Formats: sequence, C-alpha cells, structure tokens
Amino acid sequence: MVHRSGDRERCGTGIEGLDTVLYGGIPRSNTVLLTGSCGTGKTSLALEFLIHGALNGENSLFVSVTENSEKMLANIIPYNFFEESLVKSGKLVLVDLPVMYERLGMTKAELTMEEIDLLVAAIASLVRELGTKRLVIDSITSVCYKLKTSEKIRDFILKLSKALSDVDCTSILVSEMSAQASSYSMFGVEEAISDGIVLMANMERRGDLLRTLQVIKMRGTMHSRAKYVLDLTPEGVLLAPLLKGGSAGT
Ligand SMILES: Nc1ncnc2c1ncn2[C@@H]1O[C@H](COP(=O)(O)OP(=O)(O)O)[C@@H](O)[C@H]1O
Ligand SMILES: [Mg+2]
Repeated sequence: MVHRSGDRERCGTGIEGLDTVLYGGIPRSNTVLLTGSCGTGKTSLALEFLIHGALNGENSLFVSVTENSEKMLANIIPYNFFEESLVKSGKLVLVDLPVMYERLGMTKAELTMEEIDLLVAAIASLVRELGTKRLVIDSITSVCYKLKTSEKIRDFILKLSKALSDVDCTSILVSEMSAQASSYSMFGVEEAISDGIVLMANMERRGDLLRTLQVIKMRGTMHSRAKYVLDLTPEGVLLAPLLKGGSAGT
C-alpha cells in the first residue's frame, strides 16, 4: 500500500520514541531483525510492539522458541497497558515453536531443506488462519541452531519473510548475539536478508550500565541512526537521546 507521498504505510510500534525515530513506524510487511546481547530488552520491546498492535485491533502472534509462552505472559502482565482480555479474545496469541516442531514430526537436531519448507508453510498458514498482522519470533537464533548452515538459514529467512510479507504481516525476528560480536547476528547471514536491523546493546557510562537502541537499517523509510538510551518501565519502553556528555536526556 502506498501513500500519495510514495511513502509506505506504517505499522506503528506504539513505542513513542521508536516511532519518532522511524518517521511513524515500521514500514508495513517489513521483516525486522531485532538484535542484541542478553538482557538488552529485546523480548520486552517485541512484546510491547504486539500488545500495542492488539490494543489497536490488529491480531498479534508471539512465537516463543526457547522460553515457555506461559512464562512469557507472566512477564508482561505487570505492564500498565496490558489487558488480559487481549489474550482471552485471541487478539494476542502466544505459541511455542517446540510444540509446532513436534506436531510436524521434526524431532531431529537438524532440519532438512524439505522440513524448512514445511516449517515456513506451517507458520504462514497459522498467520493466515489467525489473520495475524504483527508477528514476533523469539528467537530466530534458536531456530538457526537447528538449520546449522548459512545456506539453510538464508533459505529459511528468505522464504519466511516472503510468506509473511505476502499476507501483509509486519514481523520482528529477535536475534541473539554475543556482546563482543563484530556482526549483527550470531550466524552473520540473518542480517543480510532482513528489511531492517534494530540493534540493542549495553553500554557502560560513568559506572552505570545503560541499555541503548539504534536503528541500523530500515527499508522503506528514512530514520535516525543515532543511539538512544532505553529505559524499561511499567509503562513500557522509553527512549531518550544519548547526549554527548554521556547521560540520558530527560
Ligand atoms: N518493564 C520492565 N521494567 C523493568 N525491568 C524490566 C522490564 N521488562 C524487562 N525488564 C528487565 O530487563 C531485563 C531484560 O529484558 P529482556 O526483554 O528479557 O531482554 P532480552 O530479551 O534482550 O534478553 C530482564 O532482566 C527484565 O527483568
Ligand atoms: Mg529475550
């Protein structure tokens, strides 16, 4: 869908600071890699993106790969803006990928090319069935461990992004990386094939460990490339510019 300005329609994240950085939100149907080391706030931000979508009437789906989705839910209930009715009404659905693997008979440690196609088809059909407009997979890195080769990872992410964008679903793939990594992802290929990369990190400043967020790339929009300080609060993610002096703006 195209606006008169030629600008892509946006999927507002509902996180005010991030929507400002992205000039209105993630261009609809983009597949974005949300990457960072452990504890930087990726899961919190991704869940907030889904909750705001669900509150706005957009069906949202969280695919949990490593952690039990029930446990995930317990983590978001304290959010002030979370409403349990979103889950009861099916606006926000949480599924466990290991359950899908089991149903599809994917019991081996490494998926074959055929199984990759099956998995993409299963996710796409779930998205169609639920009318999902926002999807999060947390984390894609855990799926990549079952793919092992760069060729298979590339194949999987390309097919998945294509299938999701065909049904107009805006997606966040959470990616884990080590704090010292020189690339934006564990396997190095995920980043090459996504429409956007949002990097989250820890940064030490004056004895404090700050969380930071930076949009590295986003197809279909202009965006700031500045580094922001991120605060996790009961009202959700708050972003403030990282000032040269080294403190967060107020
Ligand atoms: N709303 C919140 N307020 C305060 N702390 C939070 C909030 N959400 C998450 N945290 C804390 O931040 C840490 C990292 O969050 P998380 O989103 O799980 O990071 P990641 O997925 O990058 O590992 C967790 O230890 C969690 O306790
Ligand atoms: Mg996480």
